[in-house]
Amino acid sequence: MKVITSIKEMQKYIKNQKNEGKTIGFVPTMGYLHEGHLTLMNKARNENDVLAVSIFVNPLQFGPNEDFDSYPRDFNRDFMLAENNGVDVVFHPSTEEMYPNKMSVTANVHSRIDVLCGRQRNGHFDGVATVLVKLFNIVQPDRAYFGLKDAQQVAVVDGLITDFNFPITLVPVEIVREEDGLAKSSRNINLTAKERAEAPRLFESLQMAKQKIDEGQRNPKVIEDLIQAHITTHTSGTIDYVEMYRYPELEELSELTGKIIIAIAVKFTKVRLIDNITFDV
Ligand code: PAJ
Repeated sequence: MKVITSIKEMQKYIKNQKNEGKTIGFVPTMGYLHEGHLTLMNKARNENDVLAVSIFVNPLQFGPNEDFDSYPRDFNRDFMLAENNGVDVVFHPSTEEMYPNKMSVTANVHSRIDVLCGRQRNGHFDGVATVLVKLFNIVQPDRAYFGLKDAQQVAVVDGLITDFNFPITLVPVEIVREEDGLAKSSRNINLTAKERAEAPRLFESLQMAKQKIDEGQRNPKVIEDLIQAHITTHTSGTIDYVEMYRYPELEELSELTGKIIIAIAVKFTKVRLIDNITFDV
């Protein structure tokens, strides 16, 4: 497995692979790899000749009061996991390599962001879109793999690829969970033991909501109240949002039919957790 830290060298490596007629599968990450990331990698491994993974904690997508400094980092551990999971090349640039100067042009996301995390995290998706424009130009993948854990990110990337005409196929991948239902996340390590024990209640509340809908409940307010009550009763976290939309459009639901997303964000002491389910009503 190759580890490349320079943009020029990465572009040269990719050019050589493409000259040999190879297809490139790309999994962008911020590292501290877990089974969620590994599932994306395995899928990309199976569908492409070359598997490229980026590990870069992107400062542009963190707000001033967010967890950029405490975001977990462990490159040696990531290196072992990547090597053992069939990765061909890890692109691991420094912040100076990616942002030597203040950017004079950045991407600005206009739609699908006035809801969910976008509403709370001003500028977050601009930062995600900007780093992805750079990464897509550096890695030039045929297919790029994104997890539905970040369902709004998938919706934004879908817009980015379409609107900027990247010749890339977006491949969305289902959420990978711990045995107790907690969605795998690099941030879970920043939960206290008590919070970790409470955290499966998030997915539990989503499952209860889905069950109510399956049983015929069609009032979104009733569903949202049920989720709020479950999380408030069983966890010490503070609810950021409980929201339901049409998916992937992220438009208001006039009625509960079609493909929908129920998404939640809950703040704990040092970490904010997100989770969602998407399904057809
Ligand atoms: P990161 O949080 O490291 O996630 C990298 C990819 O792994 C994302 O597509 C995310 O949705 C996916 N992922 C994380 N946890 C998952 C889980 N439990 N199940 C399935 N997929 C999961 O998302 C980012 O990094 C950044 O915003 C990035 C796209 C790299 C841009 O900086």
